[in-house]
Amino acid sequence: MGKVTMGVAVVGSAAVCAAAALIMRHRMRISNRCVTAADILKELEEKCATPASKLKQISDAMTVEMHAGLASEGGSKLKMLISYVDNLPTGEEQGVFYALDLGGTNFRVLRVQLTGKSSIECQEFAEVSIPPQLMVGDAETLFDYIAAELAKFVADESEKFQLLAGRQRELGFTFSFPVMQLSIDSGTLIRWTKGFSIEKMIGQDVVVHLAEAMKRQGVNMRVSALVNDTVGTLAGGRYGNKDVVAAVILGTGSNAAYVERAQAIPKWHGPPPKTGEMVINMEWGNFRSSHLPLTEYDNKLDSESLNPGEQIFEKMISGMYLGEILRRVLLRMAEDAALFGDTVPPKLKTQFILRTPEMSAMHHDTSPDLNVVGSKLKDVFDISDAPLPTRKIVVEICNIMATRGARLAAAGILGILKKTGRDTVRDGDIPDTVVAMDGGLYEHYTEYRHCLENTLHELLGDEVGKHVKLVLSTDGSGIGAALLAASHSQYV
Ligand SMILES: *[C@@H]1O[C@H](CO)[C@@H](O)[C@H](O)[C@H]1NC(C)=O
Repeated sequence: MGKVTMGVAVVGSAAVCAAAALIMRHRMRISNRCVTAADILKELEEKCATPASKLKQISDAMTVEMHAGLASEGGSKLKMLISYVDNLPTGEEQGVFYALDLGGTNFRVLRVQLTGKSSIECQEFAEVSIPPQLMVGDAETLFDYIAAELAKFVADESEKFQLLAGRQRELGFTFSFPVMQLSIDSGTLIRWTKGFSIEKMIGQDVVVHLAEAMKRQGVNMRVSALVNDTVGTLAGGRYGNKDVVAAVILGTGSNAAYVERAQAIPKWHGPPPKTGEMVINMEWGNFRSSHLPLTEYDNKLDSESLNPGEQIFEKMISGMYLGEILRRVLLRMAEDAALFGDTVPPKLKTQFILRTPEMSAMHHDTSPDLNVVGSKLKDVFDISDAPLPTRKIVVEICNIMATRGARLAAAGILGILKKTGRDTVRDGDIPDTVVAMDGGLYEHYTEYRHCLENTLHELLGDEVGKHVKLVLSTDGSGIGAALLAASHSQYV
């Protein structure tokens, strides 16, 4: 059948695919799946479609899973973890507080001085890289190294940071690895990620490790709060704006946290929090639903990933994966429709070779000849002289993937708003709602950000949409953690 079908497909394809069609006529390899890049593009567009009706189903599914996850441990793919943060900063906190942010090959130490008027008078950073051998050595060496840096940081500080007499310094600890939180200031390590591997520590309390190292290094400091970065972002956002009720991270990974009424958390058996509220770390990256528009590319990406079957939502919306999905579509177009000529460019087969910042740069290319696309194809894949129609196809795929991701993220946010009753007019009143946003994808991928904002507005409608804002709130993992140390201080 090959050739005939191929001819028909070429004639039937749109002008946008002219170059690919031209190449196809010279194609040597005849597979039994003869399609043009335009066909593949059209199919992709259909499979990735996210009409408002579908997004509403997805947001409803998110709300249902939120209920299930809050009802019982393991009740849902959504873990809906209790963060033990029942006291978000109000802006009235005063004093000097510290944060330690450990989440990768670097860690940061920071200090804030709070004046009680929602302002942060002073911040200082020290960023230290962790020697690779410490990432796979023993716990004492790693934490001694960190505590020694804390000691230096404190020793170097000027007179004006002297604490009130008899007070101990307090620290918020952002530990960006999977942790089972036991209280606001304790939690056990579930597993290492990101190149760390200190087997002995698994199952142990990370705060105890830090506290003992601080003692050994002579740092008189108490860990007042152990926090996830998403919870930190919520705290950082809330400090400056009382209307912040949720935080969403859209970076390499994705997660969300929000403020829930304690009474709406059946699985919480602890004492009722004073504020009546509790921050929930949704771990929403693991959300999945039959309504999600999954494609063959997503399914293969997932099955070939390090965590098959997990983090399906994250794999569709976050920065770690968008470029990789684009690569997979391009590879299929190269293999089945000879998009880049008779041979498949070898680098197209390398997983994760195309990073989302590169995809973003191509997507935002406004030059008439799509020069940025041309140079990225060269730099990343060693593909030279891709003709303009091919470049246009690349931009089109960027657009399809980023649009799908951003619209799904908007549906997720709508799910939170529905769960908290902020998606409709209530008794003639519409509360002002702010979602604190963080992460490089949201911050730097402008098309993605705009699409997310527009979609949320579209889904909420104008009347409610006017009252819902997304605000960039960077550095939750640092400042936010210090603010949580303040709002959970032993002295208040
Ligand atoms: C907290 O944050 C990190 C990094 O964003 C993530 O990998 C981790 O799984 C999160 N959750 C928990 C429960 O620790």
